[in-house]
This record gives sequence, C-alpha cells and structure tokens, in this order.
Amino acid sequence: MTSVAIVTGAGSGIGAACAERLANTVDVLLLADVSEAGVTAKATALAGQGAACEPVVVDVTEANAVRDLVTRASSRGTLRSVAHVAGISPTMGGWRRILDVDLVGTARLVDAVLPLAEADTAIVCFASMAAYLNVQTNPAADAVIDDPLADGFFEAYTAAVGEPAPDPGIAYAWAKRGVQRLVRRHAAAFGAVGARICSVSPGTIDTPMGRQEYEQQPMMKVLEDMTPLHRMGRADELAAVVSFLLSDDASFVTGVDVLADGGACAAVGVLD
Ligand SMILES: NC(=O)c1ccc[n+]([C@@H]2O[C@H](COP(=O)([O-])OP(=O)(O)OC[C@H]3O[C@@H](n4cnc5c(N)ncnc54)[C@H](O)[C@@H]3O)[C@@H](O)[C@H]2O)c1
Repeated sequence: MTSVAIVTGAGSGIGAACAERLANTVDVLLLADVSEAGVTAKATALAGQGAACEPVVVDVTEANAVRDLVTRASSRGTLRSVAHVAGISPTMGGWRRILDVDLVGTARLVDAVLPLAEADTAIVCFASMAAYLNVQTNPAADAVIDDPLADGFFEAYTAAVGEPAPDPGIAYAWAKRGVQRLVRRHAAAFGAVGARICSVSPGTIDTPMGRQEYEQQPMMKVLEDMTPLHRMGRADELAAVVSFLLSDDASFVTGVDVLADGGACAAVGVLD
C-alpha cells in the first residue's frame, strides 16, 4: 500500500526541515503551505529524495481547502504521518488571525484527519513555549479554547480573556495552549484505532519567524541569556523531534506535548 505524509508549513523554517526528514519515510509527501512559492521550491529541492513530492497551496483557515488537502492525501494511499507545522507568530498578525491560523486551523485539520486514521497513523501539531510562559490560570478561557470551532468563538475568547482589544502575544499563547489541550483531548479518539497525536512546543528557533520575533521583542534576548543552552534552536533539531514522534520508535507516546526549548521554561521556573 502506498504510504502518504502531509507537512503543513512546508514552505519555510521548521516545516521545510520536517519535509526533508520525512521525504525518505513515505511514498508520497504532500507539501502544504499558503505560500505557493515556498512549497513549489521545496518540492523541486526534494525531487529524487525518495517520496513523490506534491506542492499544495492551502490556507489552513479555509475549511474547504483543509478538507481538500486531506481528501487528496487519502486518494494517494494510506495516511501514515502528518506534521502540522504551519502557523503565525505575535508580530505576524492581529489577535483574531493568530487564533484562526494557530488554533482554529489546527482543530479543522485534526477533525479532517481523524476519519482517515488507522493503526500506526501519527500526527504532530505545533504549539509553543509561549503557552507555558505567557498564560495565566483562567478556567473560563480554557473552556473557550477547548471549543475553537464553536459559533462565536472569537467573541467568547475576548470575553473570557477580559480584553476588549486583545494583545496578539497573549492570543498566540492561548492559541498554542489550545493546541496542547486539543492533542490531549483527541488522544482517545485516535487511540481507538491505534493512531497517535502529540504536540511539540519549540523555544526560539532560528527560522524567518523566530528571527522576526527575536528582532522585534527585546524580551527574547533576555530569555536567550537565561536559557541553559544560550542559543536559538535550529529547524533541523525540531524536525528530529517531529521525526521521532511520527516514527515507530514513539509507538507508546500519545496525548502529550514535547517541549523543545533548550531549557528556557525550566530556567524561568514555569514548570515547577
Ligand atoms: N520559530 C520559532 O521561534 C517558533 C517558536 C515557537 C513555536 N513556533 C511554531 O513553529 C511553527 C513553525 O514556525 P517556523 O519558525 O517554521 O515559521 P516560518 O514562518 O518560518 O514558517 C511557517 C510557515 O507556515 C506557513 N503558513 C502561515 N500561515 C499559514 C496558513 N494560514 N495556512 C498555511 N500555511 C501557513 C507560512 O507560509 C510558512 O511557510 C509555527 O506553528 C510556530 O508558531 C516557532
């Protein structure tokens, strides 16, 4: 049977590094991104690396486009792996767009993938260390982010977080906390067919996104100085974590978040 993988956000940064790692693990690799130039270039670069690479232009905020992506994957063979890496950061959009891409888009993709899951299917979604660093205890907000596909989600978010003009950085942290909680919530449904779902929370990673945040937010330099490894992570280091979680080596790992932050959260003390 033909094995298929999907990588979203494959046109840049960590997603592109994940595509490189997965290219020799499956027969068909769908490289999905809102940036046509990014995925076309990546598909060309990976030609001859093992998998047949197909660039797919998808905006994860568009429900039909997400469904079409998953339908296309199922038409190619058995869905083995999904690395859902696409996302935007606090300096890349307003609070609503951040929640839409990072949390609502993830919920849509996971819902679309679930019916195709079977034994040994694995999906990894992307959260962030921001979910550990920048979220205050708020059960009402947790209840809202646990239902991101509900009508009135954005209004419910502003009411629960208590901000009439929400901050993009806070929205990013809540969106990524929502991803971590979504993964925990969905472990049973995926597990019912022998499939797995995890999230990965990167620290500051040397990608176009990571560099933009580093340059525009002075706190990032302070955080780097506190980080035990005293540096940014590399995209290939995150791709290695994703590759492990999607592999049979992680066959008993599901419903958890893996924090890959060079020790930043431990140093700040938010894990205590
Ligand atoms: N780089 C970091 O420091 C860092 C830190 C924590 C978390 N993350 C998370 O890691 C993931 C990857 O980040 P990166 O550093 O590789 O970023 P990046 O900006 O280099 O790449 C992100 C990719 O996602 C795509 N994308 C954005 N919006 C999309 C949409 N609506 N639909 C489809 N594709 C879309 C972009 O076109 C881009 O190719 C993101 O989810 C991000 O939130 C990154």
